[in-house]
Amino acid sequence: MGTNERFPGLRAEYEAGGRAEHYSGGRWSGTAHARRTDRREQGIVAAWLDRCGALDRVLDVPCGAGRFAPLLASRARRVLAVDAARAMLLHGDDADRAQASAHALPFRPACFDLVLCSRLLHHFSEPEQRRAVLGELARVSARWLIASHFDRASLQAWRSRLRRRADGRHAITVAEFRREAEACGWIERDRAWIARGVSEQTWVLLELSEPKTR
Ligand SMILES: C[S@@+](CC[C@H](N)C(=O)[O-])C[C@H]1O[C@@H](n2cnc3c(N)ncnc32)[C@H](O)[C@@H]1O
Repeated sequence: MGTNERFPGLRAEYEAGGRAEHYSGGRWSGTAHARRTDRREQGIVAAWLDRCGALDRVLDVPCGAGRFAPLLASRARRVLAVDAARAMLLHGDDADRAQASAHALPFRPACFDLVLCSRLLHHFSEPEQRRAVLGELARVSARWLIASHFDRASLQAWRSRLRRRADGRHAITVAEFRREAEACGWIERDRAWIARGVSEQTWVLLELSEPKTR
């Protein structure tokens, strides 16, 4: 079983007491803002899943407490949910779950039609760390990736820079992301924001420049 040896601190953050409970409880329903953000993100992902056509196998990594499980189950024949933190996995109710790091997935190449990578990449400060994940996702995906990252050109990112943010979250430019994704074989097909210019989180639909057969 793969773990998160490269980033034990990050994994520990999500194993820590209360964090998984927060994610499976109020994180996405506790405030009007959280509910709006979740609704908007589910809408973005749903529209792109529909655009990708028939999906047999989908990988959700990191799955967290299973926020996207119902949506993915409604669009794919089989969904596998993976997270580095055991505590998070204990909160999901989907059957197929595994503990592993997105940097070293225990799957053969081109195993999935589509991979969803929600709210992970902003945890990595260095391009090599993000490329390691984007490269591993390119290895296990046959064609599609839906991912999110923090956009530097946003009010939230600007405010965080002013306050010298120390929460381990990192915003990058859209151009930086594109370069890193392209280096791993991904082409950006579409992009969406929760609130462009305001919110940090931006979502991207990517396709392999050379799709593979499963
Ligand atoms: C912000 S949460 C996002 C969860 C879920 N994708 C969502 O949008 O609700 C980040 C998740 O990443 C997981 N994580 C941290 N490092 C990881 C790694 N290297 N590989 C896989 N999962 C990781 C954490 O355990 C946590 O569940």
